[in-house]
Amino acid sequence: MTERIVETIRTVPDLRDAIAARRADGATVGFVPTMGALHRGHCALIKRAASEHDVVVVSIFVNPSQFNQAADLEHYPRDENGDVKAAAAAGATICFAPSAEEIYPADFASSVRVCGPLTETLEGQERGLGHFDGMATVVTILLNIVQPNVAYFGAKDAQQALVVRRFVTDLQIPVEIVTAETVRDQDGLALSSRNARLSPAGREQALAISAALQASANAISDGSAASPDGAAAAGVERLRAAGITPEYLAITDSSTLEPARELSGTLLIACAATVDGVRLIDNLTVIANREAATANC
Ligand code: PAF
Repeated sequence: MTERIVETIRTVPDLRDAIAARRADGATVGFVPTMGALHRGHCALIKRAASEHDVVVVSIFVNPSQFNQAADLEHYPRDENGDVKAAAAAGATICFAPSAEEIYPADFASSVRVCGPLTETLEGQERGLGHFDGMATVVTILLNIVQPNVAYFGAKDAQQALVVRRFVTDLQIPVEIVTAETVRDQDGLALSSRNARLSPAGREQALAISAALQASANAISDGSAASPDGAAAAGVERLRAAGITPEYLAITDSSTLEPARELSGTLLIACAATVDGVRLIDNLTVIANREAATANC
């Protein structure tokens, strides 16, 4: 089988030219922003984009401004050659792998901020407001450069996807946002670039995160939890049994991320925990209506 070749572009003018040439032929453009270390979750997004568009741009850029800890940025897995091959095999047309200076020139002085509970809770509370400011700013820059018809994000970063939808709407950025289902290993572990840093024992322990989300979802659907706190406690108990103290395990409204007041409507069960020195996040969406709750795992 011949290996697909993708073009790796490093500068904004070159990327704009390459996309403009294809648009002139009537091509539509799908965009998958990544920080590299591509796994099957990213590849599923790229495959979906390739099934819906003539041109698929994948950005590979470890965005320094969304990391709140220098060590986390330093240890973030990087493998550009492997990423370009994986993106090509999944159907990408162009990989955009800019330097930090290309995105943030020396005189860069702007920021995009989404205010309110969407950014202040969960990840915003744990990682600081700068995390979502950094993410929103770089995604805005990338959307302005690529100007895709559709941009694809994974549901594992549910809060990120909601924040992106918010600023795309507020700032009238002409792009459709697709949030695609979380891809999991067979044993339930949500795929993440950070999983590469887990030892075999750490990976085994990390399975408690998806199990805890499921325990909370079950407590909602089988009626054993009488309240959001009760449902959260079921998940926390599962984590503690595995020796994990979560940063949070929260039951929230799935669109506002406000704490759920009762077990009804569409709820997001979201969890963050550090396992084996690696910070992991995961979530489940549950439709809770006291009669028949269903979990979308
Ligand atoms: O989800 C990610 O990998 C990053 O937050 C993103 C969207 C590529 C922005 O840096």
